[in-house]
Amino acid sequence: MRLTSLLTTLARRGRILLALGGLALLTGCNLDFWTMKGHQSTIAVDGPVAKSQLNVFLVTCWVTLVIFIIVGSVLAYATYKFRARSEADEQAVPPEQGHGNPLIELGLIGASVLALVIIAVPTLKSITYTADVPAEEKANAYEVNAYGYQWWFKFEYPAEQIAGSGQLVSANELVIPAGRPVHINLRGMDVIHSFWVPKLAGKVDMIPNRGNFLWLKADAPGYFWGQCAEYCGDSHAVMRFRVIALGPKDFNNWLNAQTAPAREVAKVASTDQPKAQFAAYRSDWKRNEAGWSPQFELNPLESWKAHQEPDAKHEDTALIAKGRALFQSKTCFSCHVVRGHMVGGSGAYPELTHVGARTTIAGGLLENNAEQLARWISHPDVVKPGNKMYVNGYLANNIKLTPDDVSALVAYLSSLK
Ligand code: CUA
Repeated sequence: MRLTSLLTTLARRGRILLALGGLALLTGCNLDFWTMKGHQSTIAVDGPVAKSQLNVFLVTCWVTLVIFIIVGSVLAYATYKFRARSEADEQAVPPEQGHGNPLIELGLIGASVLALVIIAVPTLKSITYTADVPAEEKANAYEVNAYGYQWWFKFEYPAEQIAGSGQLVSANELVIPAGRPVHINLRGMDVIHSFWVPKLAGKVDMIPNRGNFLWLKADAPGYFWGQCAEYCGDSHAVMRFRVIALGPKDFNNWLNAQTAPAREVAKVASTDQPKAQFAAYRSDWKRNEAGWSPQFELNPLESWKAHQEPDAKHEDTALIAKGRALFQSKTCFSCHVVRGHMVGGSGAYPELTHVGARTTIAGGLLENNAEQLARWISHPDVVKPGNKMYVNGYLANNIKLTPDDVSALVAYLSSLK
C-alpha cells in the first residue's frame, strides 16, 4: 500500500517535472519569452502611450495580486484550521452557522471600494492621456492617415504634397519622426481591421465609413513590429506592418527620397542583353516557411537604413529594363503606382514607387530581398492565401510568369529605392 502511494507521488511529480521540462524546451532557446522583450511585447515598451497603458495593467495586476494573496491565505488558513481531524469530526453535526458580522461586511465593502479607486484613478488618467495628443504637444504633432485593406496597410502623409500627384503615399512601412507625437487617422477600406504597434500604443479598430484615430510617440529612433489585431479574413494572421522611427535629419532625408519620382537606372540600348542571365530562385517554399534571415533581426533599424541605398555597382541595367517592360506588359501597373515610370495604378493597391527601400514585402510578411521577392511574385496565393493580387490579378488576367520573367521583375522592383 505504502509502495503504491509512493510510486503515485513520484509519478505525479514526474509529470510536473516533465511538463516544466517541456515548457523550458519549447521556450528555452527563446530568451524573449522569459524576458518578455519580444518584437510585440506590451511589457518592454518604447513610447509614452504604451507606457501609460502598461501602467494601468501593472496597477491592476498588483491590486488583484494583493487580493489574491489575502483571500488565498484566509482560505488556506480556514481549510487547515477547521479540517476534520478524526472519524468523529467527520460525523459531527456542523456548528451553528453565523449570518453576517456588520463590521466585517462594511470593512469588505470599504476595502473593495478602495481597491476600485486605486485602479480607477490611473485608468481614468490614462484614458484621458491616450485619447489624443496632449494640448501642449499638439503644435509639434505629425499627422498621417492609415488605411486597412485585406491584407495590407496604406499610409498617407498629408503634410508632404507632391506636385501633380497629391500627397505622399506608402505601404506597409510607416516612417515617423522619433520623439514627436504622431496623430494617426484610421480607416478600414473593406472590413474591420485593427491598427496595433504593441511597443508604441494599444490597438484601435479601423472601421469602414467611420473615422477613428490614435496617437503614439516613439521615445527614440527604432524599428517596431505592427499587426492587424482584428480578424479580417483568410490572411488576417499575416497582415502585418512596421513602424520606423527616425531622428529629424534621417526623417527629412527619407521624405526627400520618397517624394522624388521612381529611380531611373542608366539607359540601355535595345540590343543590350541582361548580363547576369537570370538568377535561379528557390521554388520549393513551404506555405508557412519563415521569410526572414537571422541577420535582419540583429539590428533591424540598420537593415532598414541599408535598404535605402541603391546597389548601383551590382545592378544589371538591361535586366532592370526588361523587368520594367514586363511590369507594364503583365498589367502590374494597372493596380500598382510607380510614380514617374508609367501612368496607371490605383490607390486601392500598394504604392511601389520606392518599394526597394522597404524592408518588407507582402504586407510585412517577408523580408524584402531578391529571394523572398521571387517567392512572393511567383507564389502569391501560397504566401498569402486569398490575396487580391492573385485573385483579381493573376487569375482574372491570366498572368503567367516564367522564371526569367520573375528574375527580371525582381531586378526592377529591387531597383526602386
Ligand atoms: Cu486586417 Cu486582421
